[in-house]
Amino acid sequence: MKRVKILATGSYLPERIVTNKDWEEKLDTSDEWITTRTGIKERHFSSDDQATSDLCIEAAKRAFKTTSIKPEDIDLCIVGTITPDHAFPSTACLIQNALGMRNIPSFDISAACTGFLYALVIAKNMIENNSAKYALIFGAETLSKITDITDRSSAVLFGDGAGCVVLGPSDDDTGIISSNLYSDGSLEHLLKQPAGGSRNPATLESVRNMQHTVQMQGNETYKNDVSKMGQAAVNVLKKVGLTGEDVNVFIPHQANLRIMQSTAKRAGVALEKVYITINKYGNMSAATIPVALDDAVKDGTIKKNSIVLFDAFGGGLTWGAMVVRW
Ligand code: ACO
Repeated sequence: MKRVKILATGSYLPERIVTNKDWEEKLDTSDEWITTRTGIKERHFSSDDQATSDLCIEAAKRAFKTTSIKPEDIDLCIVGTITPDHAFPSTACLIQNALGMRNIPSFDISAACTGFLYALVIAKNMIENNSAKYALIFGAETLSKITDITDRSSAVLFGDGAGCVVLGPSDDDTGIISSNLYSDGSLEHLLKQPAGGSRNPATLESVRNMQHTVQMQGNETYKNDVSKMGQAAVNVLKKVGLTGEDVNVFIPHQANLRIMQSTAKRAGVALEKVYITINKYGNMSAATIPVALDDAVKDGTIKKNSIVLFDAFGGGLTWGAMVVRW
């Protein structure tokens, strides 16, 4: 085997669209503020009866339509998510059953917005050491379910969606070239869901105080985003003897348009190579990269032999980058 390669992509966005105008009616905010500060115009929200696994299953069905690989061929299922259906069983186990996959290893990864890249790297290594041949990897979130809709500083940022890839062996030099993953738990306070785990189990008071929703120090997070995503991109390119100029398509985590543009500048990637979906989907945490990837494959932005750079950052803190020859 020469490399591990993305063989198919799929994505699913729930039907309901929430526009900035919709938020204007609920909160002291404006389309102008949201657009200029974040680049977001609208996002998708799941319905009350839709959980993260439901979005993943739809995304996977779409991916399987584009490849001869079938659910029964898959040897490994990993979901990057911070909004699993339950603390346990894992979302991946629910998907394994729903898609009729064999009794393969299935588990979730919690690395916030970097979850999809963490999952990809684990799967790549398992394929390389012959623990699996084909893997089904998701980045998926229903952030609307853990959003404080009374907090204008975070509510307007988030959206729901799922993206997935089928990963397997490559028979040429296309595929994953290299990756870097990082974390710094000393900055865990910048971005967290404080209650619902063993530190602060659910109580009437924790629910009343909205402690089960995303709490973020936006400004401090922003500063870390730009420097850490920029460094991750530079490091991974340098490791394999490439520069930003070699990159054809840059797919960063879509948390804020200004962060994406500043990161591209630091990585030496021209702004027109940044693939942007934040305007229509908002910040979907682990789902932003695989959903954008699926869009970029479908609309022809990514072509055979394109050098594609992924770059993510999120709660933990976690961050990382990956470079792929398509
Ligand atoms: N509408 C109008 N005004 C608002 C809104 C809003 N929706 N939200 C905040 N403001 C106000 C604030 O109250 C503040 O007012 P003040 O100056 O009178 O005090 C002013 O706007 C500026 O607030 P800041 O927080 O300084 O705004 P900033 O320019 O930093 O933008 C944002 C906020 C968009 C959240 C930005 O900080 C950001 O993108 N941070 C990074 C987010 C991120 O990358 N998270 C990581 C991934 S997410 C994950 O892992 C789940």
